[in-house]
Amino acid sequence: MRIGPNEVHILDPSFYNTLYSNRNRFDKYDYFYSMLGNPEATFATISADLHKSRRGGLAPFFSAQSIARFGTRVQAYNNRLVERMRDCAARDEPIPLFFAYRCLTVDIISEYLFGRNLALLDREDWGRDFYSAWRSLWELSPLIRQLPFIMTVFNAMPRWLLALTQPKALEVIDMQLLCDKLTAEVLASDPDEMAKSGQPTMLWEVAHDPNVPQSEKTLRRLRIESNSVLAAGFETTGGTLAHMTYLILAHPEARQKLEKELKQAIPDPDNIPGFQTLEKLPYLWAVVKESLRYVMKSRWTRDIANRRTSISVGAYSRLSRVNPSGPIRYKEWVIPSGCAVGMSALYIEMDPEIFPDPRDFKPERWLEPGAKERLEPYLATFGKGTRMCVAQNLAYAELYSTIATILLRFPTLELWETDASSVEAVADYFAGMWRYEDGKAGLQVKIR
Ligand code: HEM
Repeated sequence: MRIGPNEVHILDPSFYNTLYSNRNRFDKYDYFYSMLGNPEATFATISADLHKSRRGGLAPFFSAQSIARFGTRVQAYNNRLVERMRDCAARDEPIPLFFAYRCLTVDIISEYLFGRNLALLDREDWGRDFYSAWRSLWELSPLIRQLPFIMTVFNAMPRWLLALTQPKALEVIDMQLLCDKLTAEVLASDPDEMAKSGQPTMLWEVAHDPNVPQSEKTLRRLRIESNSVLAAGFETTGGTLAHMTYLILAHPEARQKLEKELKQAIPDPDNIPGFQTLEKLPYLWAVVKESLRYVMKSRWTRDIANRRTSISVGAYSRLSRVNPSGPIRYKEWVIPSGCAVGMSALYIEMDPEIFPDPRDFKPERWLEPGAKERLEPYLATFGKGTRMCVAQNLAYAELYSTIATILLRFPTLELWETDASSVEAVADYFAGMWRYEDGKAGLQVKIR
């Protein structure tokens, strides 16, 4: 058993904003973040100093301006999703939105990253194989944390043996090979062609950024980065879209209010404005915030609010940090240098003192006088401080425009063979994971 140094897990909500404050530049905890075997990716970089320079290379691509320019592409993928959903409706088939949303987010982030999409939205099976490979990586992540060399061992094994003994590892290796191939293709692109394309390709730009040191631009480093950004960009947003759609469809009163607002503001459903306009619609804004806060029930982890169990999408694990250069002080506590300390956002978002009746899905709480200023500092779904999600703008662009598109284009959308148990999270592999058995997973809908 591989055991890290002592780790402190804090439950006090006021500690979250202290620990993850912009003022602190703590390291990440190497044991905890070794789970995906990608220490050269910005996400898993341990040292705060190295992280600062890596993040500097990525951040401009996710600025509000960059994402605003990309907005029409996000809408183009939404339109493709709508076409596929209409085909299903014509055949009176249910639509597995759990997978469909992941196809959408993979196609979006792959275009952004590699300059070409993986066309999952065109796949008849809604990209189930692709999801299965990523799910396998998450499921292997506790083992990788214990035995960080295990993927090297799997990589050295013959494929037939791996297929027989470790089929999940084989799926993971094939997915990594795909990222290697895509990364190598981008780096070998014709500079004139790249200059002509209207939209910058993130990997190409990072590889040609004079401010990024040469050692950071190797094929190996860039393929690890691309793999990590692909993972971070699809599962989180795809999962949040599924979570949000379920909450809206399962709460008819909220849905009615939301649809009324959307129809008044957007009379032509074929002409949906950009996300900067959509986020100004108060009820839609409140639904997005409440969906990011709301934690689904689950049987595995305890819910502090009512001693029931819960986890959800987003990163609900402790985001463990270490101060290598001195102790961390909090109230009467002194956490020694080198000791890992972390806190899960769950303990803020389900705190009844901050969010009364936390088990109720109540977008209205965000519309009370002064609520924005009072509650937003406690919405920690994207993390906080220097390591918080670098791509929030892209995530919000997708959440607003996809939900508006789906509700406006399909007013008769309804849940199909889906209830609270279908969307229950059954595991916490850093992000909460919904039940997934025999290639089936929750959230199906039908268009009447
Ligand atoms: C609703 C959607 C999303 C949620 C809830 C979310 C959540 C988070 C959280 C909590 C972290 C901090 C993790 C930590 O401290 O260990 C993070 C980091 C990160 N996220 Fe997101 N994320 C979302 C969407 C995205 C998207 C669309 C991308 C696309 C590229 C992305 C890329 C990243 C990256 C690269 C990091 C590492 C940032 C760093 O260490 O500087 N995320 N995300």
